[in-house]
Amino acid sequence: MKILLLGSGGRECAIAWKISQSPRLEHLYVAPGNAAQYGTNVALNPMDFDAVKEFVDANAIDMIVVGPENPLVEGIYDYFADHSVKVIGPSKKAAQLEGSKEFAKEFMFRHHIPTARFMSVTAETLEEGYHFLESLNAPYVLKADGLAAGKGVIILDSLADAKDTLSDMLEGMFGNASATVVIEEFLSGIECSVFVMTDGEDYKLLPVAKDYKRVGEGDTGLNTGGMGSVSPVPFADDKFMQKVVNHIVEPTLKGLKEENLEYRGFIFLGLINVDGDPMVIEYNCRMGDPETEVVMPRLKSDLVDLLEGVADQTLGLKKIEFDERAAVAVMLTSAGYPGDYEKGKVITGLDGIGDVLPFHAGTKLDAEGRVLTNGGRVIALVAYGEDIADAAAKAKAATALVDFEGKYLRNDIANDLLR
Ligand code: AMP
Ligand code: GLY
Repeated sequence: MKILLLGSGGRECAIAWKISQSPRLEHLYVAPGNAAQYGTNVALNPMDFDAVKEFVDANAIDMIVVGPENPLVEGIYDYFADHSVKVIGPSKKAAQLEGSKEFAKEFMFRHHIPTARFMSVTAETLEEGYHFLESLNAPYVLKADGLAAGKGVIILDSLADAKDTLSDMLEGMFGNASATVVIEEFLSGIECSVFVMTDGEDYKLLPVAKDYKRVGEGDTGLNTGGMGSVSPVPFADDKFMQKVVNHIVEPTLKGLKEENLEYRGFIFLGLINVDGDPMVIEYNCRMGDPETEVVMPRLKSDLVDLLEGVADQTLGLKKIEFDERAAVAVMLTSAGYPGDYEKGKVITGLDGIGDVLPFHAGTKLDAEGRVLTNGGRVIALVAYGEDIADAAAKAKAATALVDFEGKYLRNDIANDLLR
């Protein structure tokens, strides 16, 4: 099987690592990729579907695996609707679960899936939005309806600030993405990420993970694309997961079917544990980053075989097995991130980290074959351990060995799950 993987981050690196181990694989191409070398990099823009098709035809690609959400929300699945190549992902309509917060909330209400109360507001209904805010208790959650590169959610402590921000958002704070704003009731609890693979009929759950979004230790400071992750998540025990399956996963899949929303890919459930009950914070139509960096290492089964099941609607016949060990990922980032940062710093020490996995995020190779930084999130170091504490200690030890000018990391990844 010849596979084209779209994307260039740590998530795609972890997927490439896993795909590259498959006996089913003939050749892996990654577009555009980074300095990791589990496949052949191709200089293709994943959003340029005509160019992707040209490459697919010229290289007899059998399957496209899509890492990030944008090509899915823009309809790459539908673009290849003739199924000349298998595309792992939802159809454009189904990708609205991520592409429109309003669509996602209405879908959940239609199918009685537990989620926060909400109201969706436009410039014409601003006054009603104010009234809804007045009916809620602080803090106030405002979400841009459309894709806003992970920055479209704002949480405010005072009602006055929430009203001002609502009006700013509707006036174009996130461009067209915030022409509609979803106001939500605030939910309090610990979050976790549940990943479902589905072929539209059957499904498999992947290992549960938790990510760390804030830049500072103790979950402080600005939001980032993710500073680290851990799997498994102790509070997501059998009892909790049974509720996730009964109240969220199965109603979601049933809802997709009932509404003829074609889906052959990953569903990412961003969940919050509210006093033992899972509620949905968000849907994403792809794998999470940096959760994938700990989920793939814990998947024992052949990913390519599972992906074929997804594409061919034979997932129900496949077996899925997990590694019992824990995995922890610590992201090395560039000084200044998520604000401005420099690129092009030489990364050293990658040869000395033993069996710790270096999943490249923002890296590139220079002409001499050196690995350079090329982004805010540079590389995730992922360690296995007998338990979370062991995996966290091993990942942390590796972070001392890999270096580049301006290296930054959080030393407390997974600590909240140890208490
Ligand atoms: P989202 O992009 O929808 O995942 O939101 C980003 C982050 O905002 C989430 O990971 C949560 O930490 C937080 N968040 C979103 N919605 C809520 C909510 N209703 N209650 C509390 N926190 C929320
Ligand atoms: N880790 C959160 C996300 O991928 O959206």
